[in-house]
Amino acid sequence: MSMYSRIAATGSALPKTRVTNEDLARRLAAMGVETTDEWIRTRTGIEARRFADPAAGETTTSLAAAAAREAMERAGFEPDTVDLIIVATTTPDMVFPSTAARVQSILGCAGCAAFDVQAVCAGFIYALNAADAMLRAGPYKRAIVVGAETMSRVIDLRDRSTCVLFGDGAGAAALEASDAPGILAARMYADGRHDEKVLGLTARISGGTLEGSPYINMDGRQVFKLAVDGLTGSAEEVAKLAGVSPSEVKLFVPHQANLRIMSMVAKKLGIADEAMVKTVSEHGNTSAASVPLALDAAVKAGRVKTGDLVLLQAVGAGMAWGSAILQWRADR
Ligand code: ACO
Repeated sequence: MSMYSRIAATGSALPKTRVTNEDLARRLAAMGVETTDEWIRTRTGIEARRFADPAAGETTTSLAAAAAREAMERAGFEPDTVDLIIVATTTPDMVFPSTAARVQSILGCAGCAAFDVQAVCAGFIYALNAADAMLRAGPYKRAIVVGAETMSRVIDLRDRSTCVLFGDGAGAAALEASDAPGILAARMYADGRHDEKVLGLTARISGGTLEGSPYINMDGRQVFKLAVDGLTGSAEEVAKLAGVSPSEVKLFVPHQANLRIMSMVAKKLGIADEAMVKTVSEHGNTSAASVPLALDAAVKAGRVKTGDLVLLQAVGAGMAWGSAILQWRADR
């Protein structure tokens, strides 16, 4: 048993193709759908996103594996020392095997535990919480936790209220059991009463055919309100459990869905705007990938140092949400 788990290193991967709001507006106009850079930017804070090109080999699995490999190498973990791989994704390349099993094979970690987590946009927080609990309980000592998505596959370009929001990418964290902090507190929540009518993708395979819709549907206003409430409440809860105040947070890494949601939550929590990571402008909403992508960008920009309090949080369909608060101890 270890007292804590800690993030030893992070990694990320993005598809090559950057699609600006203007690029997307042109693409939609050709289909008779009207949108503008101005509308997208002012309502969401998004300026561009990446779209994967499957013909170039860019898939959820390839992005997940690239992000995981970077985190593993930066942490100095040899492949045969990894005990656990968890991939959070809502856009796996296939129903099974799991994305985690594919990633394990690509990384050369054959034999270790590997499974996927489906908590939609909250997936990375769920996966991190699960890995933290497993590392503290043992016998697992080293884990790679990944969030990876190709949301471009499930957006309907004829639905301007959703298609402008999402992007593709992957982020990862290499975790190890530790007697020094570490993750101080992590909690996950769900309320299934806010079901697929609020936010959902109802497609399923049955009897050899696709049933339901293969595209995201969303009640934007309802999601906005539930997101603000869940994120604020869960952050307050983990801060209390960790015995700290949210205002002490030095690096705030919220789910990158919408700048207005992020700013509203930061304000309610008393977290300074300078502490907030804002990659939504460049990545759009990458669902389970958004938090680890944003964390990795902040780490690479030198925005976090040993001892800093870091708050991670995410929310998505289910509704499912959660927060994690940690003391940054990455020394590699
Ligand atoms: N371009 C131009 N106009 C648009 C677009 C667009 N892309 N999309 C919608 N509009 C129009 C609507 O048709 C509507 O027009 P009308 O008044 O003539 O009917 C008008 O803009 C206002 O639409 P609303 O839906 O009321 O706009 P709102 O200010 O609520 O913003 C948004 C919509 C951005 C989706 C907002 O509700 C939101 O951010 N919700 C949170 C949802 C979210 O973040 N989802 C991500 C997935 S879940 C998650 O990760 C938490």
